Amino acid sequence: MRLEPVTEDNYRAVIGLEVHEEQRTFVATNLKSIADAWIHRPKLEPLALYSGTDLVGFTLLERDRPRELHIVRFMIDRRAQGRGLGRKGLAAIADVARAEGRTELVLSVVPGNAVARGLYAAFGFADTGEVDGGELVMRHELAPTAHLTGTANG
Ligand SMILES: CC(C)(COP(=O)(O)OP(=O)(O)OC[C@H]1O[C@@H](n2cnc3c(N)ncnc32)[C@H](O)[C@@H]1OP(=O)(O)O)[C@@H](O)C(=O)NCCC(=O)NCCS
Repeated sequence: MRLEPVTEDNYRAVIGLEVHEEQRTFVATNLKSIADAWIHRPKLEPLALYSGTDLVGFTLLERDRPRELHIVRFMIDRRAQGRGLGRKGLAAIADVARAEGRTELVLSVVPGNAVARGLYAAFGFADTGEVDGGELVMRHELAPTAHLTGTANG
């Protein structure tokens, strides 16, 4: 899994990625996320997720605390879900955080989003008990093993 910048060449395809209809309340559209990133540049960074040459997902990252990487948005296109790409995407984001010397990933999730909560818990995120805008805040402390995990991302 590779994280690539959203550019003139791929932004239309990124906007074309979509989640299942019943997932639409779980994440903003990628169009909105790209707009958010433009308004709040360079604090918000929009990134396209590629599996090989296939564009399969999108994430929006925020850096406002030195030790943390905040995953503001995260989605895998509905046609590519259920193949382990969500897990690989998180691993790639964790590698970015480690490469920057960060020790924690943080995100928030809609309470009813059982698939995402299950994925995050399996990945090592824990509930913090904090609620932000009705979403449950989860944190994952990163083990300092970049040289081991870096090979496992496919
Ligand atoms: C959450 C999301 C990113 C997961 O992506 P994915 O590529 O399907 O994830 P994976 O294939 O790595 O699967 C992760 C786990 O969820 C499970 N899962 C995936 N889709 C599922 C579904 N429709 N129903 C039940 N379980 C599901 C998988 O079995 C896997 O669990 P396992 O490791 O125990 O087998 C994706 O569903 C998505 O984009 N959802 C809409 C947007 C969203 O909710 N984003 C998160 C905002 S916080």
